[in-house]
Amino acid sequence: MTQSAHCPVPDQPSLNWHLRNTTKASDDLRHLISDIARSAKYISYAIQTTDTGLSGNTNSFGENQLKLDELSDDIIRENLCENGTVCCYISEEKDDVIELDPSATFTVVFDPLDGSSLVDANFSIGSIFGIYQDGDIIGKTPRDQVAALYVLYGPRTLLIYSCGNGSGVHEFILNDVGEFKLLRSHLGVADEAKNYSPGNLRAVTTHPQYNIAVEEWMADEKTLRYSGCMVADIHHILSKGQGIFTNIGGGADSTYPDGKLRHVFECGPFAYLVEEAGGLSSDGTQSILDKKITDVDQRTAIIIGSKNEVEKTVRTLSA
Ligand code: F6P
Ligand code: MN
Repeated sequence: MTQSAHCPVPDQPSLNWHLRNTTKASDDLRHLISDIARSAKYISYAIQTTDTGLSGNTNSFGENQLKLDELSDDIIRENLCENGTVCCYISEEKDDVIELDPSATFTVVFDPLDGSSLVDANFSIGSIFGIYQDGDIIGKTPRDQVAALYVLYGPRTLLIYSCGNGSGVHEFILNDVGEFKLLRSHLGVADEAKNYSPGNLRAVTTHPQYNIAVEEWMADEKTLRYSGCMVADIHHILSKGQGIFTNIGGGADSTYPDGKLRHVFECGPFAYLVEEAGGLSSDGTQSILDKKITDVDQRTAIIIGSKNEVEKTVRTLSA
């Protein structure tokens, strides 16, 4: 895009500037990502200002309040409806595919508030989004996403997005006037991991190889970094530029036979972002990006992060 002499490159680009000037995203995709970012600002504000989760389901005036995950889902719905380019969306909060406009362009999949059970403990939580071209994602794979992003509501609110195809993974911070401003561009994930983040650890009782993987990380004197919120735990990898995150199933008789996390809303978008940043993702046999979507609620095992550590862990788990 040609830049007018009257519009110099800003010192700290906004998300919209970045989308418009550094990616090949169409105007429709740029507007969609901007509207998703707008919903994240409202969710961030809601987390700061509602008592829900901290003091039951009423606010300080005794009024009934929606739980934050339901409220987040409503906020996102409102913004997707307003946007006008979304043919349908699939939310972790809803059982069905929600049709908006069959003639519109994109399908948005999302987990509105990942880690919402941690709200009362004041831990970091997040929202995860994947964007697909056209409707009906059954039979597609997460590699078909045209963009993915997540928002981390921690001590600060951060947004990380990629439009794929080598365009990189970029991090923005929400400033005091409600604008996402560029913090770091081209986040990268190194091949070796110093940190480990082992989810669904209850599975070690029925999956001895998972236990061995954990013992190997401890023997290597890797540093444990696990919060219980996938967004925060995988953001740690993208932020530090290394690490491994796992959520492994415990087999047929266990609580989560295939792992706890959802292929479409949680693992697919993160696989897109981490692989774009130079890392790797696997379900134990193939990249998460190549795993077919058979059902919107499908769960999958995930091993994701630094390439060499993911490959080593996949070998340990299947030995
Ligand atoms: O959405 C599910 C979730 O809260 C993820 O954010 C997190 O990674 C996972 O559950 C934690 O599961 P567990 O506590 O079993 O490791
Ligand atoms: Mn979740």
